[in-house]
Amino acid sequence: MSEQTVAESPRVAAVVIMAAGAGTRMKSATAKVLHKLSGRSMISWAVDAASFLDPEHLVVVVGHQREQVEAHLAEVAPQAITALQAEQRGTGDAVRAGLSVLPGITGDVVVTSGDVPLLEGATLRDLVQAHREEGNRVTVLTAVVPDPTGYGRIVRDGDAVARIVEQKDASDAERDIAEINAGIYVFDAGLLAEGIASLQAGNAQGELYLTDVIAYASGAGHRVGARVLADYLQTEGVNDRIQLAERGAELNRRLLRHWMAAGVTIVDPATTWIHDGVDLAEDVTLLPNTSLEGATSVGRGACIGPDTTLVDVEVGEGATVVRTHAELAVIADGATVGPFAYLRPGTEVGEKAKVGAFVETKKAVIGAGSKVPHLTYCGDAEIGEGANIGAGTIFANYDGVTKNTSTVGNHSFVGSDSVLVAPVHIADGAYVAAGSTVTGDVGPGELAVARGKQRNIAGWVARRRAGTATDAAARAALGEPSSPSGGGTTSLGAPDAQEAAQ
Ligand code: UD1
Ligand code: CA
Repeated sequence: MSEQTVAESPRVAAVVIMAAGAGTRMKSATAKVLHKLSGRSMISWAVDAASFLDPEHLVVVVGHQREQVEAHLAEVAPQAITALQAEQRGTGDAVRAGLSVLPGITGDVVVTSGDVPLLEGATLRDLVQAHREEGNRVTVLTAVVPDPTGYGRIVRDGDAVARIVEQKDASDAERDIAEINAGIYVFDAGLLAEGIASLQAGNAQGELYLTDVIAYASGAGHRVGARVLADYLQTEGVNDRIQLAERGAELNRRLLRHWMAAGVTIVDPATTWIHDGVDLAEDVTLLPNTSLEGATSVGRGACIGPDTTLVDVEVGEGATVVRTHAELAVIADGATVGPFAYLRPGTEVGEKAKVGAFVETKKAVIGAGSKVPHLTYCGDAEIGEGANIGAGTIFANYDGVTKNTSTVGNHSFVGSDSVLVAPVHIADGAYVAAGSTVTGDVGPGELAVARGKQRNIAGWVARRRAGTATDAAARAALGEPSSPSGGGTTSLGAPDAQEAAQ
């Protein structure tokens, strides 16, 4: 493969991406090209490949569910212009619609489909290069596939391409041809316009087939070439949800291979999913059942998983995240999270801090070295450095109307099962006694105790639970004779004790 890039050759005049079809087989309220693979819509993958060519014009032909597609394109591909194909009369008509927004265009026009998400920009570059080097007027991207059913077949005339015949129009002999039309082409603009003007719908589907431009061109004596792509998986399209899953799995496999080659250990590629746009450093380890989504990044030496989903999360070097679901959170270097943690947006876990088992956080800044180890809700919280939040602590941030923030200072200690009723501020170097419901601020060096004082009622078991095993145990511990009411371990004395025992 030549190292020369298209950027060094003249730019292509336009890329036209066909995306107006109904996508009936998806059976979806969402436009087919908006379905996602590896976190991105099919159409954005197609636009990416097209943009690799740096075309002067990038046209997306829209029609069916066009409002959805246009709104999405405005977000992900503002450089694209759209052309309306009001009625979907076939791929030839789609390209006619595309050309209608490119009046007087000359040069090379590349045509691709919105439903071929694995196609790479480099493949388009090589196709354009072959087209120019061979002096073709049309060049078709083809592949030899194990099962050509459903695709258009390439009918050759020696090295050149004579025509393309659709599955539904093909003879038995033609159906045996294993070389298929990928639906990706480079055309000379003038010849394309001429060819499209010549199209007729006299075929099995009653459509205007773009593929008939090939027969038009070769019939008129123009050179039509083909480039066979060995990596035929790139040419596979998505017409239904089965193919969506298959193409999605292949795209994922390719992304995983990229990251493994870049120094990431992926223990179980079959259950690891990495979205496009995720960034991983060397020596990251991903354990089984891990999904990294959105703009997630993971620093050197960190270990993620098993059973973890991170969406737009930044993980620092050497951090550990086990059985966790996290979104829009930052986990700093050396921090540990999980197992069974739920980090919601606005969570920042500081350096070497710990968020442990069954902890939920939201808009929570947890300072360096602080620990929230067990069974805690930590919402709208600012925790300093080196603090310890005891098991079962609740930051009660919501009074039913508004949410308020509470703070815990450096090296402070909140005892287990405390409720911090926001907004409260616990200063640096303060303690909260276990089981406290804290409604007022706590100053530096203070211990807050906010709970009922303990009282012990002597002889209660003997009076109210006489004859029970508890009573017998108490008597034994106290060195007293067993209960006068019989000393049995099963018979219960008073009726209230029977109720209580149920
Ligand atoms: C097409 C090719 C076939 C090729 C296959 C590769 C034709 C006639 N056939 O078949 O040779 O093997 O692609 O995947 O071109 N579209 C429009 N407007 C329309 C019709 C289609 O924009 O009126 C768009 C679709 O949204 C889709 C693309 O064109 O993105 C291809 O259309 P589709 O109906 O999927 O064509 P295939 O039958 O797959
Ligand atoms: Ca198709």
